[in-house]
Amino acid sequence: MEKLEAALAKAREMRRAALGVPEVVREKVAPADARSAGAWTSLPEVTLSPGKALRHRITALAGNKDATPYDMLRSRTIRLMKEKGWTRLSVTSPGAACGKTTVALNLALSLSRQKDLKVMLIDLDLRRPSLHRTVGHSPGRSMHEVLDGSAAFEDAAVRMGENLVLAMNATPAPHPAELLQSVGTREALDAIERRWQPDIMLFDMSPMLATDDNVGFLGNVDCALLIAAAESTTLSNIDLCEKELAQLTNVLGVVLNKCRYPDDSVGYSYGSYA
Ligand SMILES: Nc1ncnc2c1ncn2[C@@H]1O[C@H](COP(=O)(O)OP(=O)(O)OP(=O)(O)O)[C@@H](O)[C@H]1O
Ligand SMILES: [Mg+2]
Repeated sequence: MEKLEAALAKAREMRRAALGVPEVVREKVAPADARSAGAWTSLPEVTLSPGKALRHRITALAGNKDATPYDMLRSRTIRLMKEKGWTRLSVTSPGAACGKTTVALNLALSLSRQKDLKVMLIDLDLRRPSLHRTVGHSPGRSMHEVLDGSAAFEDAAVRMGENLVLAMNATPAPHPAELLQSVGTREALDAIERRWQPDIMLFDMSPMLATDDNVGFLGNVDCALLIAAAESTTLSNIDLCEKELAQLTNVLGVVLNKCRYPDDSVGYSYGSYA
């Protein structure tokens, strides 16, 4: 496994060098104010019933064997992000319905079972926001209103357990691409990071091929995961998007979702991961 990872990392580095793409370095937010860390518990708490979790394929809620693929993805994500000093990770895909929201929430839950990590999952699919539906809670205000400065983060965010915060949208944003690449968005995210001090911020994005939202936004993150759907994403689209992603940020890996195994017990796997 280590050898495979090393080979994949080398291949990625070679391609990066061939494309002339240097590692993308985001300017870091200044060290946070440690006094506000306790604010997490002041957010309203939501819970996900086992039945609802099952319906939405949220298998990482409890740390049982169904969580294993996400726990593996979690551990590799933590290792790579810590190694590089990265804190912000976007989750995107070539086309719609590849499983971005499902993977992002499962990964966030798996990360948050690590008690020493504070994790934030922010819904930035501002065209078709869906995290609130999966969770079964519509926030009073939307994350896009937080980004445009018309709402407070507290009014769009809830807590799931002690160290996972979900920031969601109740409605789509009127001008998502413009908002996502605005200075206001960058400043709002920096302010959230300074005040709430998450160890990892995950961003659930819209698909790459349908919009320019990712192009405008990815300068705000350190790295990205590309989610492909085994039976519907073409290899050429994976390749195209991975290359485009590598121009915009650091590609943490490609997750091959919706795989069907012979015994049908696992619906998720990851392909290359380096
Ligand atoms: N591993 C899987 N196996 C089968 N179905 C899955 C799997 N992962 C997700 N799904 C289902 O696929 C559908 C789309 O998933 P999801 O909403 O997570 O995708 P998305 O990429 O976020 O979509 P969108 O582009 O609309 O935001 C949902 O019904 C979800 O339950
Ligand atoms: Mg989604």
